[in-house]
Amino acid sequence: MQQSQKMLEKIIAELQQQGWSVQKNFIPADLVKQLNETLQSLRQQGKLQQAGIGRRADYHIEQSIRSDQISWFEDELNPAQRQYMEQMEQLKQAVNQHFFLGLFELEVHFALYAPSAYYKRHLDQHRDQDTRQLTIITYLNENWLAEDGGALQLYLPGEQTIKVLPEAGTFVCFFSAEYEHEVLPAKRERASLTGWFRKRPELPL
Ligand code: OGA
Ligand code: MN
Repeated sequence: MQQSQKMLEKIIAELQQQGWSVQKNFIPADLVKQLNETLQSLRQQGKLQQAGIGRRADYHIEQSIRSDQISWFEDELNPAQRQYMEQMEQLKQAVNQHFFLGLFELEVHFALYAPSAYYKRHLDQHRDQDTRQLTIITYLNENWLAEDGGALQLYLPGEQTIKVLPEAGTFVCFFSAEYEHEVLPAKRERASLTGWFRKRPELPL
């Protein structure tokens, strides 16, 4: 069996048992490299924007809560972005087969955290909208050391926490409604790809 297929099965099993999963080297090194290059080119083109919080009328920039810069995957994806979306499509199919969540759409953005930037403890599901079901995060940072900081801290039941270092190729996913999490400040720049699998909004009765 292919290595990536094995990892997919491990992710599904962990989502089933504990609601979250962390896989090192899920994203191949050459793809990580190309995604990093894409991010650098977006930066040079001035396509990174200050991230906000909330949605629609509620949307606003709140630097006391998050201070990263983002760039959404939009219509014209380059080959690296398409390859990433294809790998995530396989994950989506596996998740749909096992959990019947009816995931159908993936929204993804690059996120760049300058040194000492952060994203305070939060939940990814918006208050008035439960379409975000599964959060997926891929890290793009080569040679990350524990002393660089910048861990993703996940809050588990009973205020237990785990910390995930944002090392290149590491992939994290968790059910968006269940796990609060936080990005701790880092000593160096920190790049990630964050996304959400969404289900269709319920039709009003
Ligand atoms: C987010 C988020 C975590 C990370 O963008 O909602 O929590 O580690 N990102 O980049
Ligand atoms: Mn989040």
